Order: sequence, then C-alpha cells, then structure tokens
Amino acid sequence: MEPRTQRSARARHYLMCRPTHFEVTYSINPWMDPAKPVDTELAVTQWEQLVALHRRLGHRVEFIEPLPGYPDMVYAANGATVVDGRVLGVRFRDVERAAEGPAYLGWFRDRGYQVHDPVHVNEGEGDFLLVGDRLLCGTGFRSTPESHVEAEEFLGRPVVGLQLVDPRFYHLDTALTVLDDDEIMYYPGAFAPHSLAVLESLYPDAIRVDEADAEHFGLNAVSDGRHVILPESASGVARRLRERGFEPLGLDLSELLKGGGSVKCCTLLIRDRTRT
Ligand code: ARG
Repeated sequence: MEPRTQRSARARHYLMCRPTHFEVTYSINPWMDPAKPVDTELAVTQWEQLVALHRRLGHRVEFIEPLPGYPDMVYAANGATVVDGRVLGVRFRDVERAAEGPAYLGWFRDRGYQVHDPVHVNEGEGDFLLVGDRLLCGTGFRSTPESHVEAEEFLGRPVVGLQLVDPRFYHLDTALTVLDDDEIMYYPGAFAPHSLAVLESLYPDAIRVDEADAEHFGLNAVSDGRHVILPESASGVARRLRERGFEPLGLDLSELLKGGGSVKCCTLLIRDRTRT
C-alpha cells in the first residue's frame, strides 16, 4: 500500500492514572510474576514520560486518583469505553481489580458524563476498540460475548466480535492497534481462524505484525492519526509504520510491562461529544 503523503494528527483527550501504588502481587495474565521485583519509582518515571509525550503532541491529559491496594489501576484503558460522550463502565473478571470499575465510573459521573454501569464482564478499551464507526470487541479471556451486545446497545455502534486465543495477548489492545478511522495493525496469531478471516476481509491493507514485535507489546500503541507511541523495543513495528507515513515514537515502559501492559493500557481515550 502506498503511504499517504500527509498524515494529520487529531487532538485527543486522555484519562490516565499515576502508578503510585503499582506492584505485582498477584498474577492474572502470563506476564505477571509476583516473584519478580518491581521498581515503583521507575514505573512512575516511565509513566511520566508517556504523559509528557502526550502533552508535547498537543493532547489534553486528565488524571484519576489511584486507589491504594489496586496496583493495576494504572492501566486506565481498562476503566471505560467512551463514545460520543457516552461512558460504558467496566466490570472486571478478577476480584483483584473489582473496585476499579466504580472508581472510573464515578470519575465520569462526577463530570457530567452519561454513564452505564454494565451487567456483563467487560474490561473497557482493553477489549473494545473503535475503528471509524465500528466497535471491534475482543473475547476469550476477559470481556464476554454478552458484553459485546451490551456495548452495541449502549454505544449504538455496530460491533464485530473477535475471538482471542493466545493467553499472552489476553486483551484485544495487546493484539491490535487502531491507527486511523479505517486502518489497523494486528498480530494474526492472537486470533481464532474465523476472527482472522473477518479481520482480513474488513481490513485487507492492515499491517500484520510478527510474534516478536507483538511480544514486545508493539501493538499496545496509541495513534493520533499521525504519531504512534509504542514501546521502543518493538523496532519492526516502527519500521512498518514509517513505511506507511506514520511517525512512530518509542518509549521505555519496561516496569509497566511486568504487569502485562504498556502505552495503550495506560491511556484511556475520551471521545467527547464533539468527536475526537
Ligand atoms: N495486569 C492487568 C490485567 O491483567 C494488565 C491490564 C493491561 N491493560 C490493557 N488494556 N491491556 O488486567
């Protein structure tokens, strides 16, 4: 595919959560090893670099107060799914994260957003990614197929369900990145054959990323339509993005990787009514 001559960035509105209480004390995905030491101070420093980069690119960043005893709350993408100012709250699979749902929902409710407290397990933008007007919804590990229907009803966007099969890529945002309104990249090995066929037919020009880059969390990236922030170790992804006319910006978020997350996991996109 020919690179588009001029990629344009769109101003974004993000919600993030400082990793003040970040540690790995339990394991709910294969990346988490409570026996491995975590440097919380370094996690904070690395996270601050992500905040600074979002701001340098001109995006608006807001913050939610971290709850003590909820080390995974730094992964703000799991806090909600916001489309046109409507906020679909989350319900976590694991009890270790349960209190994060009401905390994120309260943040939005307090600011006047229209919120829906979900019945079914869904982990926010971890599994729900909007591409143009279509909501891609992962299932297999966390968010349930029932939650896809609930999302479609509340958010009013057509849903495409995708079956995840590799436990290393337990959330959709570890296996697939939205680059623009009609462009994505993904790791084919993370999907069941029938879901892969759906992705191939909907996005024939998508960038297909290899296993090594996916393992570096190269797909846990955030794009504003021009700049794509991603882990710096995913060099193959950066090269592919450059070929397509994007501007990849690498960051080191190694401490947060110990919890099984990176750039996208730490960044919740708030799509306000004016559409961002
Ligand atoms: N330790 C967290 C969990 O397993 C990591 C969440 C990563 N977030 C994401 N959006 N993929 O739930």
